[in-house]
Amino acid sequence: MDIDKKVWEILFSEEEILNRVDELGKQISNDYRDKNLYIVSLLRGSFVFTADLVRKIDVPVKIDFIITSSYGYELQTSGAVKIVNDIEEEDLMGYHVLIVDDISDSGLTMEHVMKHLKTKNPSSVKSCVLLDKPERRQLNFIPDYIGFTIPNKFVVGYGLNYGDHYRNIPYVFAVTDEDR
Ligand code: IMP
Ligand code: MG
Repeated sequence: MDIDKKVWEILFSEEEILNRVDELGKQISNDYRDKNLYIVSLLRGSFVFTADLVRKIDVPVKIDFIITSSYGYELQTSGAVKIVNDIEEEDLMGYHVLIVDDISDSGLTMEHVMKHLKTKNPSSVKSCVLLDKPERRQLNFIPDYIGFTIPNKFVVGYGLNYGDHYRNIPYVFAVTDEDR
C-alpha cells in the first residue's frame, strides 16, 4: 500500500489533539498530586504524545523510555512483544508508574510492559494512551487514561508510523482504500 496515493481521512486535527492532551494532563496532575509519578513512555510511537503530555502535567514527574519491538512494516502484531531497551531502575519501590503509549490495539504491548514493570515493585502501575482501538483487543484490557476511542482503522501521524515515515505529521489520519 502506497499511502501517498491514498485518501487521507483526518480523524483528529492538531488543535483537537492538543485540547484533549491538555485535559489529560490536568486529570493526571490531579490524580498524582501527592504521589511520586514516574512516566514510562513506549518508543517510538509515543514520543510526540509524551512530549506534549508531560508539558501539561504540573506535578513533579520522572520520565524514562522503554523500546518495545515494533510492527515494522506489518500492519498488525506478530503477538510476541519484546522489550528491546528497558528503563535503568531494577527497583521501582515508592514510584507510581504511568505507562504512556500512542495506541492500544490488541493490548498485548501494554499487558507485557505492565507485567514487566510490576516485577520491579512499584506502588502502582497505570496506563495512558492517546488512541484506543477496543475492537481489536485480544485480551481483557482497558487503559486507565484514553485520549480518543477509534474504530478499527490503521491510523498514522502524531508519532504513529507507516513504515519508516509519517511520525512527524502533526495530526492523526486514517488511510482509505480509494486512490486520490
Ligand atoms: P498492541 O500491542 O497490539 O496493542 O499494539 C500496540 C502498538 O502497535 C502501538 O504502540 C503502535 O506502535 C502499533 N500500532 C497499533 N495500531 C496501530 C495503527 O493503527 N497505526 C500505527 N501503529 C499502530
Ligand atoms: Mg508503539
